[in-house]
Amino acid sequence: MKKIMLVFGTRPEAIKMCPLVNELKKRKTLQTVVCVTGQHREMLEQVLHTFGVIPDYDLSIMKDSQTLFDVAVNILEKMKGVLEEVRPDIVLVHGDTSTTFVTALACFYLQIAVGHVEAGLRTYNIYSPYPEEFNRQAVGIISKYHFAPTALAKQHLLQEGKKEDTIFVTGNTVIDAMRYTVTENYHHQELDWVGDNRMIFITAHRRENLGEPMHHMFRAIRKVLDEHPDVRAIYPIHMNPLVRKIAEEELGNCQQIHIIDPIDVVDCHNFEARCHICLTDSGGIQEECPSYGKPVLVMRDTTERPEGIEAGTLKLVGTSEDTIYEWFTRLLDDEEAYNKMAHASNPYGDGHACERIADILEN
Ligand code: UD1
Ligand code: UDP
Repeated sequence: MKKIMLVFGTRPEAIKMCPLVNELKKRKTLQTVVCVTGQHREMLEQVLHTFGVIPDYDLSIMKDSQTLFDVAVNILEKMKGVLEEVRPDIVLVHGDTSTTFVTALACFYLQIAVGHVEAGLRTYNIYSPYPEEFNRQAVGIISKYHFAPTALAKQHLLQEGKKEDTIFVTGNTVIDAMRYTVTENYHHQELDWVGDNRMIFITAHRRENLGEPMHHMFRAIRKVLDEHPDVRAIYPIHMNPLVRKIAEEELGNCQQIHIIDPIDVVDCHNFEARCHICLTDSGGIQEECPSYGKPVLVMRDTTERPEGIEAGTLKLVGTSEDTIYEWFTRLLDDEEAYNKMAHASNPYGDGHACERIADILEN
């Protein structure tokens, strides 16, 4: 029996890998082993609980305010023992985090085959997003199998010289996850607080935005909220203490925004589906909001998800206070500009990515 080991460690990887774990576990010809690095703790636990996934191994490496060095060294050291004990035929990693890159590196050192889920996303600027663009390119070099979410991602891999028969366009597994999370009959006390006001959904955490860019982002948001008393914002804040400090400084005493702890993925998807506008620097949310036709202002200088920009739902606004202020105001005040962005599109898949990946692994 083929032994497949899935390794992940952060919230977004878990959201996109847990549906795959559950699909692989249904397949009789495969033995599935789950190892979490614990790069995240509470935010990872939330997702494992939602999808009912119990890891076989947990490296528990998270430290408060961890550096890239802490994460890399601790995973590399602990991963060796797990890989030597499990001896998997294939290790599946996801996307572009430190967990992803370091696990792939450990597999390379032990000459174990790697399958890369969500392969081929690119900005071709290794400092944006940082360090994720480097991570995914490096994992691309190591991987034997590339599970690309879109045709464009496949194109990137082909241009880089990967062999066509190692690349599979599967769709993004996050769309599989969303098939189960969004429901019509959904209630939450935060949505009661919003009432009939327009709801703005906010998240922010990118490493390259910590510091001045994040101050600018939050100041722009604050200014727009002050000028629009009929608007309410919900911001489930990342657990990173550096993010929390900046948010407290810039948004702490604003009555129109509720800064709350990270919410469960079921809540998150339902909030996205019900918001008026989303402002984010997240990767995953850029894939989710287009399905609900919710305009997203992407507070980053680059995106590896141009499909959503092309579809018209995403607008890359950077991190300058003036530009975010201008676009946020325009979407609130100009109905035509809003309607131009607010139409549903789903460039990231049909919700059957996990089945496709499982079929490929079986065969
Ligand atoms: C990581 C990924 C990023 C991904 C993000 C998703 C890397 C280099 N970055 O960044 O690609 O977009 O996860 O959220 O891999 N913390 C907690 N509890 C948690 C999670 C985090 O307290 O459950 C705090 C800790 O103080 C931790 C800090 O957040 O040190 C930062 O976590 P880390 O994984 O290093 O970076 P992220 O910004 O989350
Ligand atoms: N998310 C969540 N709870 C929250 C905020 C986000 O479940 O409080 C989900 C969101 O729906 C998306 C993923 O987490 O699926 C995005 O994670 P994040 O922004 O941390 O990472 P990125 O996608 O940027 O790597």
